[in-house]
Amino acid sequence: MFRTLVLLLLSIGSSHAGNENRVLVFGGTGQLGSAVVRELVAAGHPVTVFVRPASDRSRLEGLKLDYVSGDILDAAQVKAAFAGRDIRTVVDATARGDADDEFYPTAMANIIAGAKGGDVQQIILHGSVGAGKNIEQFPQANFGRMRSTLAAKGRAEQRLIDSGIGYTIIRNGILLSADLPPTRTARLSTDQRLMRKVTRADLGLLTVKCVGNPDYMNGIWHAVDDSLDVPPQYR
Ligand SMILES: NC(=O)c1ccc[n+]([C@@H]2O[C@H](COP(=O)([O-])OP(=O)(O)OC[C@H]3O[C@@H](n4cnc5c(N)ncnc54)[C@H](OP(=O)(O)O)[C@@H]3O)[C@@H](O)[C@H]2O)c1
Repeated sequence: MFRTLVLLLLSIGSSHAGNENRVLVFGGTGQLGSAVVRELVAAGHPVTVFVRPASDRSRLEGLKLDYVSGDILDAAQVKAAFAGRDIRTVVDATARGDADDEFYPTAMANIIAGAKGGDVQQIILHGSVGAGKNIEQFPQANFGRMRSTLAAKGRAEQRLIDSGIGYTIIRNGILLSADLPPTRTARLSTDQRLMRKVTRADLGLLTVKCVGNPDYMNGIWHAVDDSLDVPPQYR
């Protein structure tokens, strides 16, 4: 009951510019993460972006942001990012280009440990369609080397689900170029059989919609956009 009330109050707060729901974004310098950061700022959220010392911040130019520096694989640095900031919501939009699949579960373990030291109400994870057991829904797909990455992403999801913190898992299928404008027709579906295209700009908008929103709490959603074509093998 108390939790529902807290989530409702957060939801009311997040729909107004200038609200105090501070969001900590991991991966905010990336193609998806920067779209998320832009929309959070536009919606009035104070935003902290966790960056590596050498991260290229050019995608975030001109935005009023608080930065904290560290590596998501360093538990102490992640914990320090939460200290004294009153973070209420976390967004994880990190991606690992190389073959180290343990990146995803380790990163999530560090985020959860850091969040537990504060008053975090929600962790929003940008994951992948096919993560964990969800891969069984797509026997027609040739995931190749992605198979072990998707298994690791499944372990990261499970860590989040088991954390006891409010969570929102957005599974992305095929992400379109970061240069494309939003179609504004993307949506989040509970149908876990869907592998669909979506723009990163639309994902930014959908992420903001999820912040503090009881309708998108404690579940898994697949990002879809009915205005974009569906590859034949996923129809
Ligand atoms: N591309 C697709 O079609 C597709 C499909 C399905 C799902 N997804 C998922 O969508 C998410 C975002 O993908 P994207 O292609 O937009 O990402 P991206 O552009 O590659 O950005 C990755 C972000 O992660 C950060 N990062 C990587 N290692 C880090 C570390 N050790 N510590 C802190 N930050 C670190 C990067 O920081 P730096 O700036 O320092 O490098 C960057 O901000 C990922 O989970 C990806 O798997 C993508």
